[in-house]
Amino acid sequence: MRIPIPQHIQEIVPYPPGKPLDELERQYGVTKAIKLASNENPWGPSPKALAAITEALPKLHRYPDGSSYVLTQALAKHLDCPPEMVVLGNGSDEMLGLLVEACMEPGDEALSSFPSFLMYQKCVQIQGSKNTVLPLRDMRHDLDAIAAAANEKTRLIFLDNPNNPTGTVFDEEALLRLCAALPDTAVVVLDEAYRDFVEPALQLDSVRLIREQANRKGAQIVALRTFSKAYGLAGLRLGYGLMLPELASMLHRVRHPFNVNSLAQVAAIAAINDREHYERTIQGTRQGMAFLQEEVSKLGCRCFPSQSNFFLVDVHGDANQLYEAMLYKGVITRSMHAYEFPHYLRITVGTEAENRRFVSALADCLKELSYV
Ligand SMILES: Cc1ncc(COP(=O)(O)O)c(C=O)c1O
Repeated sequence: MRIPIPQHIQEIVPYPPGKPLDELERQYGVTKAIKLASNENPWGPSPKALAAITEALPKLHRYPDGSSYVLTQALAKHLDCPPEMVVLGNGSDEMLGLLVEACMEPGDEALSSFPSFLMYQKCVQIQGSKNTVLPLRDMRHDLDAIAAAANEKTRLIFLDNPNNPTGTVFDEEALLRLCAALPDTAVVVLDEAYRDFVEPALQLDSVRLIREQANRKGAQIVALRTFSKAYGLAGLRLGYGLMLPELASMLHRVRHPFNVNSLAQVAAIAAINDREHYERTIQGTRQGMAFLQEEVSKLGCRCFPSQSNFFLVDVHGDANQLYEAMLYKGVITRSMHAYEFPHYLRITVGTEAENRRFVSALADCLKELSYV
């Protein structure tokens, strides 16, 4: 190719998405396959969101409201914060990109952990900026090492809480200690994609922490949330950031004018008002997590505790081979081989029937491969 693509773009490793169900069924000749690989909501979208989408369909010839006015107002009311603190994006993935574009220049640095969500590093690479990646300690973000690694070039510190893939969380005291140790030219990006699944006593009150930050020294906090997980709208692509209005106004300069589609806007308003669907998802996830951890432990594997809708399992053997063997049973999981956990699978909690099917397939495959 003669086009001089910049070196930093050529070096990007494409993001490895979970295998789609249709592809698995085609490739492996299985039917009624199940996917416990991408931390989606197995109960589907809220019926109220579906009704709102159906009602909005005849207006698809119109551009969406570029300011997402009604949704922004609804979210601000729901979260009890000023609407100026809210920036919406095409998934929280887009929010990551907007933050990098608004805050980073090529010489600047971002800090993140490994293993953690891979999109952080990718967005920074696209910008041609530098990634400094620190290992987890005891499956957790090593906040002391992160504080020690920061310097005057550090702009963004990405922390998913809970962390994907370990499901671990940190508390308010640890977060504030980190912020205080960082320069005020840095932003802590608190990615709360899985916040809804965290035990209430362990949930950070990020809205309050952001509102109060004018009174604190050190790095400021931006919280990112999504409708892809607890709200079951991953396919619509909707996430948002909560931040001080001054930074929000910078992100509005960067974002594309119609970055949130009209169906996502109406569906999200309906979804935040559908408490029944939300509660069913949270309760179903808790029950499913308890069931899976008990049954998988009985099979001789080690399950790691998680504050999310997924958890890690040490299968005591090569995770890639087990992942492949499970595909032949029509069950998609995620091997953690590429995350330097060669013996771990990451499992998303499914519906009751999916969880049973997974346990039975796992039992068969563990025996076939003589892992336990
Ligand atoms: C930690 C974390 N953050 C963000 C996302 C992306 O969410 P969205 O669908 O809103 O782009 C994911 C998706 O899996 C995730 O695991």
